[in-house]
Amino acid sequence: MPARMGNAIAAGPYRSKVQPPSMIIEALDIRPGMDIIELGCGSGYYTVAVAKAIQPAGVVFAVDIQQGMLDKLKARMEDEGVDNIIPVLADAEGEIPLDDGIADAVFSVTVLPEIPNPPKALLQVKRLLKDDGIYVNAEFLLDPDFPLRRTVVGWAKEAGFQLKSQMGNPLRHVLVFTKDE
Ligand SMILES: C[S@@+](CC[C@H](N)C(=O)[O-])C[C@H]1O[C@@H](n2cnc3c(N)ncnc32)[C@H](O)[C@@H]1O
Repeated sequence: MPARMGNAIAAGPYRSKVQPPSMIIEALDIRPGMDIIELGCGSGYYTVAVAKAIQPAGVVFAVDIQQGMLDKLKARMEDEGVDNIIPVLADAEGEIPLDDGIADAVFSVTVLPEIPNPPKALLQVKRLLKDDGIYVNAEFLLDPDFPLRRTVVGWAKEAGFQLKSQMGNPLRHVLVFTKDE
């Protein structure tokens, strides 16, 4: 997804109905003060909503491979007066420059299918999560790369996660994973 389309995908009326930020917030079981990482934050539609929900003490580390997307995220932060987001320019498949076990939760929305080797990125997620942390992934059918639920579950299992719960339906799913014992 090129950065110039970042705002177009962000928040059309259809998306705000079928994949509202409230769904991600519910799946993340948000508590103020959490430290959260978003993989592939794009222009920040979900990032800003989650950041507001964990105020005043929590932080969202917003990872994206494109500087253009992080620029759009920064503009959105300014527009909405949100300052508890730290943009991180990195490839999710590579070494994300954040410490091991830093996050209470990691989430991604319509990102995994854009990554050539999703299980490799999910190994990074595992490294960044606390032992009792959760990983939340959301997909919806309008995305041209839309993966079935079982595909996402397979990627996650390969990286050492187990499915804990799910929301939505086969055409717009939100899956919650924990680390294998
Ligand atoms: C379809 S957009 C979704 C953006 C945002 N999550 C949303 O739902 O509005 C996918 C995003 O993933 C980012 N992305 C793709 N591959 C990536 C990678 N290997 N590492 C980090 N970010 C990546 C893209 O730059 C883009 O911002």
